[in-house]
Amino acid sequence: METTTSNKIALAGLGALLLTMALGIFTNAIFAPHRPLKAGWDLPAPKESEVASASAKPEADPPLPPLLAKADPKKGENDTKPCQACHDFSKGGKAKVGPPLWGVVGRPVASVEGFAYSDELKKMGGDWTYDRLYQFIKAPQAMEPGTKMTFPGDKDPQHRADILAYLQTLSDNPVPFPK
Ligand code: HEC
Repeated sequence: METTTSNKIALAGLGALLLTMALGIFTNAIFAPHRPLKAGWDLPAPKESEVASASAKPEADPPLPPLLAKADPKKGENDTKPCQACHDFSKGGKAKVGPPLWGVVGRPVASVEGFAYSDELKKMGGDWTYDRLYQFIKAPQAMEPGTKMTFPGDKDPQHRADILAYLQTLSDNPVPFPK
Protein backbone atom coordinates (compact mmCIF):
# COMPACT_ATOMS: atom_id res chain seq x y z
CA MET A 1 0.00 0.00 0.00
CA GLU A 2 1.30 3.42 -0.86
CA THR A 3 1.87 5.82 1.98
CA THR A 4 0.07 8.98 1.08
CA THR A 5 1.21 12.43 2.04
CA SER A 6 -1.80 12.86 4.29
CA ASN A 7 -0.89 9.63 6.10
CA LYS A 8 2.63 10.94 6.64
CA ILE A 9 1.25 14.16 8.06
CA ALA A 10 -1.07 12.21 10.35
CA LEU A 11 1.79 10.03 11.58
CA ALA A 12 3.98 13.06 12.17
CA GLY A 13 1.15 14.65 14.12
CA LEU A 14 0.69 11.50 16.22
CA GLY A 15 4.43 11.39 16.90
CA ALA A 16 4.41 14.99 18.03
CA LEU A 17 1.44 14.29 20.29
CA LEU A 18 3.18 11.29 21.88
CA LEU A 19 6.32 13.35 22.40
CA THR A 20 4.34 16.11 24.06
CA MET A 21 2.63 13.60 26.37
CA ALA A 22 5.95 12.04 27.28
CA LEU A 23 7.40 15.48 28.00
CA GLY A 24 4.37 16.25 30.10
CA ILE A 25 4.88 13.18 32.26
CA PHE A 26 8.58 13.94 32.50
CA THR A 27 8.16 17.55 33.59
CA ASN A 28 5.46 16.56 36.04
CA ALA A 29 7.92 14.21 37.65
CA ILE A 30 10.45 17.02 38.05
CA PHE A 31 8.17 19.89 38.87
CA ALA A 32 5.65 17.98 40.96
CA PRO A 33 2.53 20.05 41.28
CA HIS A 34 2.24 21.61 44.69
CA ARG A 35 -0.50 19.86 46.52
CA PRO A 36 -1.76 21.30 49.77
CA LEU A 37 0.34 19.87 52.65
CA LYS A 38 -2.67 18.94 54.72
CA ALA A 39 -4.62 16.10 53.17
CA GLY A 40 -7.83 14.78 54.56
CA TRP A 41 -9.70 16.29 57.44
CA ASP A 42 -8.67 18.79 60.03
CA LEU A 43 -8.32 17.11 63.41
CA PRO A 44 -10.76 18.45 65.92
CA ALA A 45 -9.09 21.12 68.07
CA PRO A 46 -8.65 20.04 71.71
CA LYS A 47 -11.23 21.49 74.06
CA GLU A 48 -10.08 24.28 76.31
CA SER A 49 -10.47 22.16 79.44
CA GLU A 50 -8.16 19.52 77.94
CA VAL A 51 -5.53 22.14 77.14
CA ALA A 52 -5.67 23.46 80.71
CA SER A 53 -5.27 20.04 82.34
CA ALA A 54 -2.45 19.12 79.96
CA SER A 55 -0.45 22.21 80.90
CA ALA A 56 -1.14 21.64 84.61
CA LYS A 57 0.56 18.25 84.44
CA PRO A 58 4.24 18.30 85.33
CA GLU A 59 6.39 18.27 82.24
CA ALA A 60 8.03 14.98 81.39
CA ASP A 61 11.75 15.07 82.10
CA PRO A 62 14.36 14.40 79.44
CA PRO A 63 16.41 11.24 80.15
CA LEU A 64 19.10 11.83 82.75
CA PRO A 65 22.26 10.11 81.33
CA PRO A 66 22.82 12.58 78.42
CA LEU A 67 22.36 15.50 80.85
CA LEU A 68 24.85 13.98 83.28
CA ALA A 69 27.31 13.47 80.42
CA LYS A 70 27.54 17.26 79.99
CA ALA A 71 26.91 18.19 83.62
CA ASP A 72 29.24 20.63 85.36
CA PRO A 73 29.86 20.11 89.11
CA LYS A 74 31.04 23.75 89.49
CA LYS A 75 27.74 25.04 88.13
CA GLY A 76 26.03 22.46 90.32
CA GLU A 77 27.72 23.81 93.41
CA ASN A 78 26.44 27.23 92.48
CA ASP A 79 22.94 25.83 91.95
CA THR A 80 22.95 24.44 95.50
CA LYS A 81 23.03 27.97 96.99
CA PRO A 82 19.31 27.74 97.87
CA CYS A 83 19.91 24.30 99.45
CA GLN A 84 22.67 25.61 101.70
CA ALA A 85 20.14 27.53 103.78
CA CYS A 86 18.99 24.15 105.06
CA HIS A 87 21.77 21.67 104.23
CA ASP A 88 25.44 21.32 105.06
CA PHE A 89 27.40 19.74 102.18
CA SER A 90 30.79 19.39 103.88
CA LYS A 91 32.37 16.16 105.11
CA GLY A 92 31.33 15.58 108.71
CA GLY A 93 28.78 18.38 108.41
CA LYS A 94 25.99 18.70 110.97
CA ALA A 95 22.26 18.75 110.45
CA LYS A 96 20.68 22.15 109.87
CA VAL A 97 16.99 22.45 108.97
CA GLY A 98 17.68 19.42 106.76
CA PRO A 99 20.12 16.51 107.11
CA PRO A 100 23.77 16.90 106.02
CA LEU A 101 24.26 15.88 102.38
CA TRP A 102 27.92 14.75 102.18
CA GLY A 103 27.83 11.31 100.55
CA VAL A 104 24.08 11.36 99.94
CA VAL A 105 24.34 9.55 96.56
CA GLY A 106 23.97 5.83 97.26
CA ARG A 107 23.08 6.49 100.91
CA PRO A 108 19.95 4.86 102.32
CA VAL A 109 17.05 7.33 102.35
CA ALA A 110 16.41 9.00 105.73
CA SER A 111 19.46 7.40 107.36
CA VAL A 112 21.26 10.25 109.17
CA GLU A 113 21.39 9.27 112.88
CA GLY A 114 19.38 11.55 115.10
CA PHE A 115 17.72 13.53 112.31
CA ALA A 116 13.95 13.79 112.76
CA TYR A 117 12.80 12.76 109.28
CA SER A 118 9.17 12.92 108.25
CA ASP A 119 7.23 9.66 108.21
CA GLU A 120 6.98 9.94 104.41
CA LEU A 121 10.72 9.92 103.93
CA LYS A 122 11.18 7.15 106.50
CA LYS A 123 8.65 5.02 104.59
CA MET A 124 10.34 5.55 101.22
CA GLY A 125 13.05 2.93 101.69
CA GLY A 126 15.95 2.12 99.37
CA ASP A 127 18.93 4.31 98.54
CA TRP A 128 19.24 7.73 96.97
CA THR A 129 20.05 7.00 93.32
CA TYR A 130 20.75 9.72 90.75
CA ASP A 131 17.32 9.09 89.26
CA ARG A 132 15.53 9.47 92.57
CA LEU A 133 17.44 12.63 93.43
CA TYR A 134 16.65 14.00 89.95
CA GLN A 135 12.94 13.56 90.70
CA PHE A 136 13.10 14.66 94.35
CA ILE A 137 14.96 17.91 93.69
CA LYS A 138 12.53 18.75 90.90
CA ALA A 139 9.53 18.82 93.21
CA PRO A 140 10.03 17.30 96.68
CA GLN A 141 6.36 17.56 97.67
CA ALA A 142 5.19 16.03 94.39
CA MET A 143 7.47 13.01 94.79
CA GLU A 144 7.01 12.62 98.55
CA PRO A 145 3.83 14.38 99.66
CA GLY A 146 4.27 15.31 103.32
CA THR A 147 8.05 15.68 103.23
CA LYS A 148 9.44 18.30 105.57
CA MET A 149 11.61 19.65 102.79
CA THR A 150 9.71 22.86 102.05
CA PHE A 151 11.67 23.66 98.90
CA PRO A 152 9.64 24.29 95.75
CA GLY A 153 12.14 22.44 93.58
CA ASP A 154 14.40 23.21 90.66
CA LYS A 155 12.48 22.53 87.46
CA ASP A 156 15.46 22.98 85.10
CA PRO A 157 16.70 19.48 84.14
CA GLN A 158 20.26 20.64 83.38
CA HIS A 159 20.47 22.48 86.73
CA ARG A 160 19.48 19.29 88.48
CA ALA A 161 22.01 17.26 86.48
CA ASP A 162 24.68 19.82 87.47
CA ILE A 163 23.63 19.50 91.13
CA LEU A 164 23.92 15.70 90.84
CA ALA A 165 27.39 16.06 89.35
CA TYR A 166 28.30 18.21 92.35
CA LEU A 167 26.77 15.71 94.80
CA GLN A 168 28.85 13.00 93.10
CA THR A 169 32.03 14.82 94.18
CA LEU A 170 30.93 14.82 97.84
CA SER A 171 32.19 11.34 98.54
CA ASP A 172 35.36 9.35 99.15
CA ASN A 173 33.95 6.71 96.77
CA PRO A 174 31.96 8.59 94.14
CA VAL A 175 29.07 6.61 92.67
CA PRO A 176 29.39 6.32 88.87
CA PHE A 177 26.64 7.88 86.75
CA PRO A 178 23.99 5.52 85.34
CA LYS A 179 24.48 4.59 81.67
C1 HEC B 1 13.81 25.00 103.33
C2 HEC B 1 14.85 24.04 103.71
C3 HEC B 1 15.38 23.14 102.63
C4 HEC B 1 15.88 23.49 101.40
C5 HEC B 1 16.00 24.87 100.76
C6 HEC B 1 16.32 22.24 100.79
N1 HEC B 1 16.09 21.19 101.62
FE1 HEC B 1 16.56 19.26 101.29
N2 HEC B 1 15.67 18.71 103.01
C7 HEC B 1 15.12 19.58 103.95
C8 HEC B 1 14.49 18.83 105.01
C9 HEC B 1 13.76 19.41 106.23
C10 HEC B 1 14.69 17.46 104.70
C11 HEC B 1 14.15 16.25 105.45
C12 HEC B 1 12.86 15.90 104.72
C13 HEC B 1 11.93 14.94 105.43
O1 HEC B 1 12.30 14.39 106.47
O2 HEC B 1 10.83 14.75 104.90
C14 HEC B 1 15.45 17.44 103.45
C15 HEC B 1 15.87 16.27 102.81
C16 HEC B 1 16.67 16.23 101.71
C17 HEC B 1 17.23 15.03 101.15
C18 HEC B 1 17.06 13.61 101.69
C19 HEC B 1 18.28 13.34 102.57
C20 HEC B 1 18.25 12.04 103.32
O3 HEC B 1 19.09 11.90 104.24
O4 HEC B 1 17.43 11.14 103.04
C21 HEC B 1 17.94 15.40 100.04
C22 HEC B 1 18.72 14.51 99.11
C23 HEC B 1 17.83 16.84 99.94
N3 HEC B 1 17.06 17.31 100.96
C24 HEC B 1 18.44 17.59 98.95
C25 HEC B 1 18.25 18.96 98.79
C26 HEC B 1 18.81 19.73 97.70
C27 HEC B 1 19.75 19.19 96.64
C28 HEC B 1 18.34 21.00 97.84
C29 HEC B 1 18.57 22.19 96.92
C30 HEC B 1 18.31 21.98 95.51
C31 HEC B 1 17.53 21.04 99.04
N4 HEC B 1 17.50 19.79 99.58
C32 HEC B 1 16.91 22.18 99.55
C33 HEC B 1 15.13 20.97 103.87
C34 HEC B 1 15.51 21.69 102.76
